Amino acid sequence: MAFGLFKKSEKKQEPSGPHYHDLSVKAIVHETKDAISIAFEQPATPLTYKSGQFLTLITTINGKEVRRAYSLCSSPIVDKDLIVGIKRVEKGLMSNWLPDNLKVGAKVKVMDPMGQFTTEFNKENKRHLVMFAGGSGITPMMSIIKSLLIQEPDSICSLIYCNRDIDSIIFKDQFDKLQTTYEGRLHVIHVLDNAPMNWQGYSGLLNKEMLTKLFERIPNWGLDNTTYLMCGPEGMMKNVDVLLAEHKIPTEKIFKESFVTGVIDKPKKEEAASSSEKKAREVTIRYDGNQYKITVEHNRTILETALDKGIDLPYSCQSGLCTACRGKALSGQVKLDEEEGLSKSERAEGYVLTCVGHPMTDDVVIEIG
Ligand code: FES
Repeated sequence: MAFGLFKKSEKKQEPSGPHYHDLSVKAIVHETKDAISIAFEQPATPLTYKSGQFLTLITTINGKEVRRAYSLCSSPIVDKDLIVGIKRVEKGLMSNWLPDNLKVGAKVKVMDPMGQFTTEFNKENKRHLVMFAGGSGITPMMSIIKSLLIQEPDSICSLIYCNRDIDSIIFKDQFDKLQTTYEGRLHVIHVLDNAPMNWQGYSGLLNKEMLTKLFERIPNWGLDNTTYLMCGPEGMMKNVDVLLAEHKIPTEKIFKESFVTGVIDKPKKEEAASSSEKKAREVTIRYDGNQYKITVEHNRTILETALDKGIDLPYSCQSGLCTACRGKALSGQVKLDEEEGLSKSERAEGYVLTCVGHPMTDDVVIEIG
């Protein structure tokens, strides 16, 4: 996942505490002309994570703290190091700063790995994972594929991977090797916008016609248990969504990881708020054994207000997508500007995202962590 959002906090804070770690850069690999992978050495107490999760990197650029979430492409059961994949995005602050400035041996502050785009592996499973990835959306898929191939000998994976051109394919050699090693269990279909003359794969835009054609090419493998995963640009995700709906794939079989590239602060939704919504309200936050009371103005989010008060709450994308700021509302009502980051059942259980959350009643109590 590559969130390209600038941090908006006004007060400088030094993140510290049990959820932050200083990791050493062990290696930087130029995977393509505009993508790198960064391998971090595990600290003395290794960070635990699941395939498909992401790491939030925190650095200071031009005197300002910047946070970005990047999916781990390493597998916790295959790789010793924590490895993230990063692709430059136009005007992306950290995605350009890292390849231009980061050196082996440097320390980078990170938050605990997190994210819901993951699955439990079990050697008894017999399932088919069908993955749709675009550009750097391949990073969480790579982690999941590596773990799946080792952990579930009877499961298989089909990957449709779209890129601009042949030089933009991240991990191409690794996929070629994996397909040879796990022959018959990993099936990769490459799609390029601009393909060279001798290209053996598919070429053209990933529109409805192309997706329909590719979907028919996915081998049936004779397994009933099929799950669909997608991660890539918004347009691709929408097209895949439509395709899966047309094939009547139940929504509980579909998993998505959203990312936003090159966006500089999403415009805030300034809807016509009723006068009762325009009230400042008190919110109680429980985090890390502490309890904080803050007053949140109607046009501020709970997270923004807490950060302004110097409360070091966890966050990353500030856009309602990554769930780094997730908490549970134990009482009261919270309105979210953006609900995409939470599943229906999470919302039903009372989970909220403080970065896009506004209190609607005076009795809101949120527990984080
Ligand atoms: S910080 Fe990413 S969802 Fe709130």
